[in-house]
Amino acid sequence: AAPALAATPPMGWNSWNHYGCQIDEELIRRTADALAAKGLRDAGYVYVNIDDCWQGERDANGNIQPDPKRFPSGMKALGDYLHARGFKFGIYSDTGEKTCAGRPGSQGHEFQDAAQYARWGVDYVKYDWCNTGKDEWQRNSREGYRTMQRAIAASGRAMILSICEWGETKPWLWAAKVGQLWRTTGDITNCWDCVLGHGDWHSNGIMRIVDINEPLRAYAGPGHWNDPDMMEVGNMATLAEDRSHFALWAMMAAPLIMGTHVDTMKPEVAAILTNRRVIAVDQDARGVQGLRWFDNGATQVWAKPLAGGDWAVALVNRSDRPAKTGIDWASTPLEDTLNGLFVDFAEQTYGLTDLWTGKSTGTTETPLSVTLAPHDTAIYRLSPRR
Ligand code: GLA
Repeated sequence: AAPALAATPPMGWNSWNHYGCQIDEELIRRTADALAAKGLRDAGYVYVNIDDCWQGERDANGNIQPDPKRFPSGMKALGDYLHARGFKFGIYSDTGEKTCAGRPGSQGHEFQDAAQYARWGVDYVKYDWCNTGKDEWQRNSREGYRTMQRAIAASGRAMILSICEWGETKPWLWAAKVGQLWRTTGDITNCWDCVLGHGDWHSNGIMRIVDINEPLRAYAGPGHWNDPDMMEVGNMATLAEDRSHFALWAMMAAPLIMGTHVDTMKPEVAAILTNRRVIAVDQDARGVQGLRWFDNGATQVWAKPLAGGDWAVALVNRSDRPAKTGIDWASTPLEDTLNGLFVDFAEQTYGLTDLWTGKSTGTTETPLSVTLAPHDTAIYRLSPRR
């Protein structure tokens, strides 16, 4: 049998968060080249996903065509370019008649569009939810996404279906049978803890997204993931925020789709995104979305059970001031009721590895004490000692 699509959360890059509509084939090729040159592809970021604004008009037969000014070589050539370099090719469309940016959507053309994507060698379809009608005239989300799922199946090509419905019709209750990931929130934006209003629409800072996504952990698992949106790592105000954002996405087993400028990325940002120890937390075969173990307001502690009996633990400083925090392991049992797991550190000792540095940093026999810069995160792997 073919390996399951997205057995672990998909990893890659998407054009939207940094470039918006300012995209063309040269940017996509340049980004792919930079992903390869900077070690990001080899760290696992293989999906190169073009978001909104690639579309031109439909031809006389109704087949969707790329914008001829921005993608003059055509999408088959771009897909070939990506595949030749070890990448997979992602594209974007919409359940409505128009996309969010007003380009042609797939409503009424689902089977034709999926067949076209298959001819182009597409591997991943992000499928948005704009312009699907209002109130009693709104399209049924399950029907809309199910139709694209059936169209992809009929195309004969395996493609991930990324359901971009923003959580309004609770996709976690139905989307696991339809696609491999579903958005749980409105759009992300590159601030730490803000909510930005845009008329009847708003976008969320990192910690707001986390607050919405965390309670949905029961719905995630191998092949079907909560999607708290594409990463703003590299676009945040400080490296501490970039680190925290990345660590939290790994703790939540979120898709790691970066949304920054790769060709001009700072080496410090590349170092965060290519940290194999943190990536391994996200990509762990157990496929459990982590839990918020404690929330003290200013600081919080996360835990994620891993395959083979290890745990990841992260301490986050949500506040705007340096914070001293820690864990007195012996008096603090760790419980994941959802997965029937209970750790009594008075009975079982674990060794700690600091995942930012890769260095061993003692055991759970000694209380952990850390001082975190504003908006920074410490992250550890705990492995049982015999
Ligand atoms: C919506 C989606 C975003 C992005 C834009 C493109 O807002 O949620 O991720 O795809 O549309 O227009």
